[in-house]
Amino acid sequence: MSNYYLTTPIYYVTAKPHLGHAYTTIVGDALARWHRLLGDNVHFLTGTDEHGQKVQQAAEAAGLSPQEFTDSIAPLYQQAWQQLNISNDDFIRTTEARHKIGVAELLQRCYDAGDIELGLYKGKYCIACEEYYTDDELDPGDLCRIHKIPVEQVEEENYFFRLSRFQDRLLDWYAAHPGAIAPEFRGNEALGLIRGGLRDFSVSRTSLTWGIPLPWDSKHVAYVWFDALANYLTAIGYGQDNDEFSKWWPAHHLIGKDIIRHHCAYWPAMLISAGIEPPAGWAVGGWLLVGGEKMSKTTGNVVNPLDLVADVGVDGFRYYILADTPYGNDGDFTYEGLIGRYNSDLANNLGNLLARVATVVEKKCGGVGPAPRSDSPLATSAASAYAATAEAWAETAPSRALEATWSLIRATNAHLEANEPWKAEPGAAVDAVMGDALEALRIVAVLASPAVPETSETVWQRLGLPGRADEQRLPAAAEWGRYPGGLTVTKGESLFPRKSV
Ligand code: ME8
Ligand code: MG
Repeated sequence: MSNYYLTTPIYYVTAKPHLGHAYTTIVGDALARWHRLLGDNVHFLTGTDEHGQKVQQAAEAAGLSPQEFTDSIAPLYQQAWQQLNISNDDFIRTTEARHKIGVAELLQRCYDAGDIELGLYKGKYCIACEEYYTDDELDPGDLCRIHKIPVEQVEEENYFFRLSRFQDRLLDWYAAHPGAIAPEFRGNEALGLIRGGLRDFSVSRTSLTWGIPLPWDSKHVAYVWFDALANYLTAIGYGQDNDEFSKWWPAHHLIGKDIIRHHCAYWPAMLISAGIEPPAGWAVGGWLLVGGEKMSKTTGNVVNPLDLVADVGVDGFRYYILADTPYGNDGDFTYEGLIGRYNSDLANNLGNLLARVATVVEKKCGGVGPAPRSDSPLATSAASAYAATAEAWAETAPSRALEATWSLIRATNAHLEANEPWKAEPGAAVDAVMGDALEALRIVAVLASPAVPETSETVWQRLGLPGRADEQRLPAAAEWGRYPGGLTVTKGESLFPRKSV
């Protein structure tokens, strides 16, 4: 059994959980669930990023201490993930003791390696990004390109991580690990940044109190990105529990395209400096836009995922998130798109298939599911659906994985329409067709479970199968012919009643 450590970004507590955060977290959850089906020992981590100037300011504006403020926001993320059926194994908050211990250790190692040095910083800083910019990276009027707000002129003594020394080491590492960043065009973006030249970056501030003090100079507190990135180590015992740490490290990171520079340049350099292996891989998602704009509090187009769940259910929302946008590309969220997907893929395809099968089994087979044929015409559809589904998940391509899984649903509906068992007299011919359809549904329930876990479990129960859909193990569970026959099939209520916009 191999260990598989998967992470999402840790989200800033300056915003409440929105559609964009839900997007990356749901992709992570589906991937974690897929790996559990494969029999991997999975550790899926998410959490919140709680230090820095932005948080300090937000707390002041709310009339709270920074700790009180973060204590009021972090649970909103935990609750949202619970409501979206996210199966994270851990949730890290950067204000936890385990994190502070590990950050101090990582800082000290990089300092001892000679890669952190004192310098004077003069330049422009966007508080919303927690990032320094040069003039050519800003819009006219010194506006941040992402937030469209003016940057601040900053001058202070900072410790710097000497990233500029790492260009060759990073390029060599990436050359030795082709495909480490998916999809490929995002990998090229990262390599372009590294080839374009790397600037040293600040790892400390003296003007800030809400952060982790540097172990060798407590006038300084750690700058947000050094602190934040370290969560991937500190959550698994770095600096405290070596066995646990080496059990899980290196990680597979899921990130949005906005944080490529930090994750694909800063982070592996920090790790190399500290004598730690770089990550196992990165999968970079695009932005989910709303009305063509990136969702953010600053632009005022924030969509709350929990509002959408009220309309289409948890699985309806998860399915849309995973199926609608090829991972890596930008996507545009629309309510019409959400309802359209729900009606076509969930109501008309999956929901309708289960309803038809259960109805015919009730009417023509006495409510008892017949066994499938070993030479069923659907067996090849199932085999190719499984192969394509597995390949797509391996490439972090959920939309393709679901397309492949849904190809089996469509083939099964077509098989039923070609044979019209609802018009035939009960008997061997009807039993054969219905056995095939039940077996296809069994395989669909397993393959779809990373995306729509609750729905898969309902299908599993209605087919009368023992155990749970998400306890099955691949590839065995995708083999044709495992539906035993002789099980009681339950009709139940419609899985996905049709919606109008
Ligand atoms: O950057 N579309 O936190 P953050 C798609 N704390 N994904 C989106 C999105 C959108 N509109 N909006 C946000 C930070 N995301 C740091 C990270 S990690 C060591 C520290 C997702 O709250 C996407 O994954 O701004 C993006 O990278 C992440 O949220 C940024 O979250
Ligand atoms: Mg952000």
